Amino acid sequence: MAESENTDSSMFHQPLLSETQPQSSENVEVLAPFPPAYHRGGLSKSCRCGVISCAIALIFLVASFVLLWPSKPQLSIVQLSLNGLGFHTVPSISLDVKLKLTVQVRNQDFYSIKYDWLNVTIDYRGQNLANATSEGGLVNARSSSYVNATLDVDAVEVLSDVVMLVEDVAAGEITLDTESKIGGKIIFFFFDLPLKATISCQVIANMTNETVSSQNCYPEVHL
Ligand SMILES: *[C@@H]1O[C@H](CO)[C@@H](O)[C@H](O)[C@H]1NC(C)=O
Ligand SMILES: *[C@@H]1O[C@H](CO)[C@@H](O)[C@H](O)[C@H]1NC(C)=O
Ligand SMILES: *[C@@H]1O[C@H](CO)[C@@H](O)[C@H](O)[C@H]1NC(C)=O
Ligand SMILES: *[C@@H]1O[C@H](CO)[C@@H](O)[C@H](O)[C@H]1NC(C)=O
Ligand SMILES: *[C@@H]1O[C@H](CO)[C@@H](O)[C@H](O)[C@H]1NC(C)=O
Repeated sequence: MAESENTDSSMFHQPLLSETQPQSSENVEVLAPFPPAYHRGGLSKSCRCGVISCAIALIFLVASFVLLWPSKPQLSIVQLSLNGLGFHTVPSISLDVKLKLTVQVRNQDFYSIKYDWLNVTIDYRGQNLANATSEGGLVNARSSSYVNATLDVDAVEVLSDVVMLVEDVAAGEITLDTESKIGGKIIFFFFDLPLKATISCQVIANMTNETVSSQNCYPEVHL
């Protein structure tokens, strides 16, 4: 057993040593961390073979890590609709908004991912009007899942930019900003990686017929 291994390794080594420059420089590169004197004199051929197999195994490990390293899930808004939009001046300047949205969570990895929560916020000119939280979920390998969220702004007083709001209402259109965010973590081998993705939308709502007249969504880039 040991003898055949020995002949195997010498057979493996013979052509390598007599080969051209690029091949042998690659060989030296792999062995570089060892002091040259030590490796030339002391290391037996089977030992060197072990080092080479270790290096090959390491290269495969690194390559599979790079291939399997989790990629960011991608969010998109597949549906966004208003179920109510109102404006009050009594007892205070306030807004009613009922916004429903469906978020698509796309997983490009070769394994399923789990996220813990989906949070959606709605703002009017920088003022937060309401938040909504949906349960997390599982997204299968290379597929998508859909989550619904409803934002319910019920007679929320507008504190800043009252003049702007009055102007917007007079013009018949208001602009709302929503941000949908998922969070959780991915356990990848022994790494605990944060999972997060965000998509923001600017929604222009028509006050007269209470519908979305335009929306502009853009994903946010996290590292
Ligand atoms: C989202 O909501 C969950 C549950 O309410 C909370 O634990 C989490 O901290 C929130 N995330 C953010 C970014 O606000
Ligand atoms: C929404 O959540 C943020 C934190 O994420 C909090 O500061 C804010 O007060 C919440 N707004 C409402 C209307 O509950
Ligand atoms: C989300 O809402 C849509 C209708 O707006 C419905 O068809 C779908 O089943 C809902 N999805 C979930 C996961 O509740
Ligand atoms: C809002 O919708 C109504 C009814 O469709 C339309 O007459 C009006 O022009 C719209 N307003 C704006 C600002 O587009
Ligand atoms: C509301 O008004 C917009 C124009 O701002 C129009 O495109 C849309 O079809 C109208 N929707 C309804 C339900 O009347």
